[in-house]
Amino acid sequence: MIVGVHIIEFFVRRGCCVVSSPRNVHCDGEPFTWAFLIARSDVVGGENLIATVDSCGKNPGELQSEDILARFTLESPLDGWVVDDLRVSHYVSPVTTAPDAAFGRRTMLLIDFRVPDRGSVNPTPLGGMGSRGISA
Ligand SMILES: [Fe+2]
Repeated sequence: MIVGVHIIEFFVRRGCCVVSSPRNVHCDGEPFTWAFLIARSDVVGGENLIATVDSCGKNPGELQSEDILARFTLESPLDGWVVDDLRVSHYVSPVTTAPDAAFGRRTMLLIDFRVPDRGSVNPTPLGGMGSRGISA
């Protein structure tokens, strides 16, 4: 099993916008993805949208209300979600600074895994792991 552990941290400046996800509703291609908020300060946005799997590839503005299964924003540390990639799609809206804030910050922990094809396991040395994950 290959487990991916990713810290995604954004610092956003007033007047700017950061996107932490593809700009469309998507599936990640791993069986499950967990996402947990680590820190959030002086930002607005980052709304999570969970939609039907048929919504994969669509612009969030194109979705009908029956396509949307959940819509929420992670506000407190360790708030999180998990998605079954074969059953739902997801999207995260852009993040900007809160009114009157010069800078904002949002930090997420993402965890995913996949089972490699037999014979394709190629453990990566810890020193070269980068953001691709570890073998377990
Ligand atoms: Fe994703």
